[in-house]
Amino acid sequence: MLIKKLFLQNFRNYEREEFVFSEGLNVLFGKNGQGKTNCAEAVFYLCTGASLRIRHDKQLIRLGESSARIQAEAENRYGKVSISAEIFENKRELKINGSAIRKNADLMGHVNSVFFSPGELRLIQDGPDERRRFMNISISQTSPAYYTALLRYNKILDQRNALLKDKDGAMVLETLPVWDEQLCKYAAVIIQKRVEFLEKLAPYAQELHAYLTDGKEKLTLAATRKYGEGEEEIAQALLRRLKNNYENDLYRGFTSVGPHRDDIDFFIGEMDAKAYASQGQTRTAALSVKLAEVEIFKQLSGEYPVLILDDVMSELDLPRRKKLVKKIEGLQTILTCTHAERVLYGADANKIRIEGGKIKQEKGV
Ligand SMILES: Nc1ncnc2c1ncn2[C@@H]1O[C@H](COP(=O)(O)OP(=O)(O)OP(=O)(O)O)[C@@H](O)[C@H]1O
Ligand SMILES: [Mg+2]
Repeated sequence: MLIKKLFLQNFRNYEREEFVFSEGLNVLFGKNGQGKTNCAEAVFYLCTGASLRIRHDKQLIRLGESSARIQAEAENRYGKVSISAEIFENKRELKINGSAIRKNADLMGHVNSVFFSPGELRLIQDGPDERRRFMNISISQTSPAYYTALLRYNKILDQRNALLKDKDGAMVLETLPVWDEQLCKYAAVIIQKRVEFLEKLAPYAQELHAYLTDGKEKLTLAATRKYGEGEEEIAQALLRRLKNNYENDLYRGFTSVGPHRDDIDFFIGEMDAKAYASQGQTRTAALSVKLAEVEIFKQLSGEYPVLILDDVMSELDLPRRKKLVKKIEGLQTILTCTHAERVLYGADANKIRIEGGKIKQEKGV
């Protein structure tokens, strides 16, 4: 998958700008606060319909303006595709090849992307929310069925939680099984897809981690909770767990088991990375997972995704930087950094200098 052109209008600090990307490495460079990450964010937004940094699209609109527009000309194995997003304060309009699409699910899969930024350390250091978010975004990009199941699951879960807060305990106990049947159906899809995803991801992540650490460390990851084999068994197992937790859930007023509570375990050697890994180890583990994600996308969709590396170089030591540059050879990559010449090590790149939300044209950088 390739992004050839990106057009931004009133997006973040961009008034109007057009980027032309090459097939290999694209380096966005410039001083702090100029718009490098904003551009990377726009690419990711078009790929997934989601922003990485915020929950409200409103912040994406250039201050003082009423709407923002992002448009990309891209290519996947089916041919050319044009994707656009018009973002208003309270709504947005997404289009593929000029036709409006109603659901986020229809946006996903046209161009996949993998985003890595220093914030990705949260994947390992933060609570389970962050790891579920990672799985949700990643799996949704290649599986519309997962995305749909997730939306439905969350809706039923909200209703179940609302019910649990009802004072009429007898009525609640009577109604719960009705919700649980539905809940488990969608939960099983989510859990099963996550298992498949982690089974594919783990060996790649381990291999890439060994590559980045010169084989000195071994990274293992796996789902924290196991339910069973196949959707049917998973649904039954969850149904039993839900039943066993009726009293507890009623008391606490929310649903205590299910995919909304599941997590991934990260081990470096014998050590639980969440609790014990150093900054550098955490960074390398997170990067390995992201690079593994690139391979998974290739496997599932037959095409490599666009790789977005935001500010990753300044955080890695020299040998790891060099290895990374070597590893991403041939992948369309959008890499942001403050000094282009310090990260390239002779690699060819399309260098774009950003200054105050504008591309600064210059020769001989
Ligand atoms: N909605 C918005 N309207 C106008 N300006 C915005 C908006 N959102 C963010 N900005 C501005 O964009 C700039 C930040 O851009 P960005 O995060 O892309 O910087 P950067 O080039 O990646 O810098 P760094 O090297 O520090 O990571 C800030 O100056 C911020 O004030
Ligand atoms: Mg930045």
